[in-house]
This record gives sequence, C-alpha cells and structure tokens, in this order.
Amino acid sequence: MNEKNLKVLVLGSGGREHTLAKICAQSPLVQEVLVAPGNGGMNQEFRSLSVSVEDNEKIVQAARDEAIDLVVVGPEVPLCNGVVDELNKVGVLAYGPDAQSARLEGSKAFTKDFLARHNIPTAEYRNFTEVEPAIEYLQTCSLPVVVKASGLAAGKGVIICQSKEEAEKEVRDMLCGNSFGTSGSEVVIEEFLEGEEASLHLICSGEEYVALPMSQDHKKVGEGDTGPNTGGMGAYAPTSLVSSVMLKEYEETIVQPTLSGLKSEGMNFRGTLYVGLMLTKSGPKVLEFNVRFGDPETQVILPLVEQDLVPVLMASAKGESLPKKLEIKKEYAMVVVLASKGYPSSYPKGEKIIVPSTLPSSSILIHAGTTSTPDGEVVSAGGRVLGAVGTGGSLDDAKSAAYKLCDAVSFPSKYYRKDIGYREFERQ
Ligand code: AMP
Ligand code: GLY
Repeated sequence: MNEKNLKVLVLGSGGREHTLAKICAQSPLVQEVLVAPGNGGMNQEFRSLSVSVEDNEKIVQAARDEAIDLVVVGPEVPLCNGVVDELNKVGVLAYGPDAQSARLEGSKAFTKDFLARHNIPTAEYRNFTEVEPAIEYLQTCSLPVVVKASGLAAGKGVIICQSKEEAEKEVRDMLCGNSFGTSGSEVVIEEFLEGEEASLHLICSGEEYVALPMSQDHKKVGEGDTGPNTGGMGAYAPTSLVSSVMLKEYEETIVQPTLSGLKSEGMNFRGTLYVGLMLTKSGPKVLEFNVRFGDPETQVILPLVEQDLVPVLMASAKGESLPKKLEIKKEYAMVVVLASKGYPSSYPKGEKIIVPSTLPSSSILIHAGTTSTPDGEVVSAGGRVLGAVGTGGSLDDAKSAAYKLCDAVSFPSKYYRKDIGYREFERQ
C-alpha cells in the first residue's frame, strides 16, 4: 500500500468526526480526506460521500471505488455492526475495533462480567434478562440505585433511580422492550458511585497502547452540573484531577488488565479504548468503556497532540507496534458546545448559522449538528450544533479563546454553558 499520498475516509457526522478529519488533513502523509456522510461544516471543507454509517455494504463499496487507504470510524454503531471486519475482509485498512471487541461498548452486561472476571475495579452489579429476579435483587440494593439498558442507547440508557418504585418501573420498561427496544432486553443494576468523572483515551494495538491527555466532560445540560444528562456540553484537557503518578497506577490496575484480559479471551483490541472513570474515595472505578473517541473530548485532546497522528492510527489499524509515548503540546484546550435551546428534549432545527469570516485567534470552530441547504446555507440540524474550541498556554487562555468564539457565532436558539472547566478552576 501507498504510505504517502494517502486517501483517508472519516465515517460519521459529528464534532468528533469533524475534528478527526481536520487532524488527518494536517498530516503530510495525507493527500485527501473524504467524509461520509459529514455535516454542514465538514462538507464545505472535505469531499463528502452520501453513505449512511449504518450501511456496511455501501461503505465497503465506497472505500473500494475511491481506493481509500485508511477508513477512520467515528461512532460506535458501525463498529458494533462490524464495519471494520467487513472492510478488512476486502483488504481495506480501518481504524477501530472489530465487532467482537466492540462489545465492550455494545453490551454493558458483557463488560461488567468482563471487568469482574479480570478483577478490574467497577461498581457492584448484577445483570438480568427476567423481571422477577431483577425486582428481587432491587430489594437488596441501597438508594440511589443505577439501572442501565445493556445495549447501545446513544448515551440515554443510564437511569439513576432515587426510589425502589422508580427502579422497578425502569427495569420493567426496559425488559419489556418499552423504553429502549432490544437494547433493553438485558439490564444492569448497579451500585451508585460518588466522585468526579474523568475520561481516559488510549490508542491501542493489541496489548500495546499510547495514552492521550486526560480530559473532563460536562454531561449535564445546566450550569453547576444540573438538569438532564446530554451527550456532553463541553470539555477541557489536560485535567489536574489525575496526576502522572495516578495515571500510571490506572494503567497498571485498569488499562493493562483490560487489554491482556481481552487478549486472553481471543480479542486483539485495535482502535480507541475510552475508559470512563469515576474517581471515588476508595479509588478509581470503571463506569464504562467506549470503543471510539469521546464527543466532545476529541475536540480537546487531539489538538494537543504534537506529532502526526495518522501513522499512529495506521499502526493501530494494522495491529503493529505503537510509539511508546505521544508527543503532547504543553498547552490547554477547551471546547464549549453550542446547543439548540431545548436540547436534550425538543429543540428547533433549520436555523441559519452566521459565522464571521475571520475567527478569533487560537480558536477552532467544529461543526456537529449542522447541514447545508440546497442554496449553500449552513443551518442547524441537531441538538449539539457546534463546538467552540480554544487553545492556549493556560486553561484561562484556552477558556477565553473558546468563549470569544461562542460570542462570535450566532443562530437564534444558541445555548451554551458558561462554566465549562469550573471544577478545574476551583482546584487552582
Ligand atoms: P455510562 O454510559 O455507563 O457511562 O453512564 C453515563 C453516565 O451516567 C456516566 O457518565 C455517569 O455520569 C452516570 N453513571 C453511570 N453509572 C453510574 C454509577 N454506577 N454511579 C453514578 N453515576 C453513574
Ligand atoms: N462524551 C461522552 C462520550 O463520548 O461518550
């Protein structure tokens, strides 16, 4: 294969994929980045293919027709659908795990049992497929108790229940297929953990891995972490919540046992392992694994990488050796998500987005829920519309660059949290 003049196809249409496409386009090895299907911003910057991320056959066809050298898979759904397996079958290199390893995200029940088998710290739990034993177990749990749909639920399948009645109702709704369809046909009932959350991203090749800077997301829609959960309203990196000594310890107690556990069970993990951690009083515990980059964490961790990431993604996709460490800039990054007011419930779409011709320095505008109209206007098309990214020598500088960009961009129902990074500022 060509190791220069590469054609890279980024699959997906969110802020994470816009960031991945920009990062790949910066590589001197890359001749062209294509996106499928992309969004209003990606499609102005890159050639886009109108292919759904859920249509494996069309993705394989498009990758062959375009002689793609590397497919970078953004979201979890195609990974769980085995798109990497299908691409590899016809000799197309793809970054991301195969369907078997993607179960770490696709089945929370599988993951909990996996963690237990390998003595990796996580919340106490039981898995259930039948209502009666689940309700019986609930009687033994303390409150609050966490009820999770085992399958993919676009980040909505976790319910923190304050009463046994609420938990019983959630369990029944899930197991009877009323709330999450087949994703709720198995449930995890889990101990509620208290602490701060942090996101650890690793690029893996079997048992080898390189860590990206630790970041912190803001999942709640409202300031001070109030209101309903969202896909993430903003993030920053690096976070001082986890020192390099702590990170080394997490690698030993969580990352290495996970990758060697997968290997011992016949899985050779390639791609991104995202470890969602709860830092509790009794130590770090795994809340979840994702098998792709986080959104919006990608928007802050990738701009901090000094070196060309494309060779690292290629090595992971091939199962080859990775560099021991990534060169990371001595900088900070913050992303503030510009959402449509009303998100995560109902919100308007189709609103015209006005972006000034010159952006404030040290800022990057990332598109997420946007689309272009036939007459070339970019309009809102989702709850999380844009990501305003700022970088700088301190978190304060990164924050002011990000918020200047928030003010510079407009659409009628623009809503954003004004307090991204507040926990980190409180620690300073
Ligand atoms: P998950 O998809 O499992 O990461 O859950 C989504 C969010 O729900 C997490 O980021 C946490 O904020 C929350 N959550 C999940 N599990 C627990 C738990 N056992 N205790 C407290 N919060 C949790
Ligand atoms: N920001 C959380 C996630 O990507 O799952």
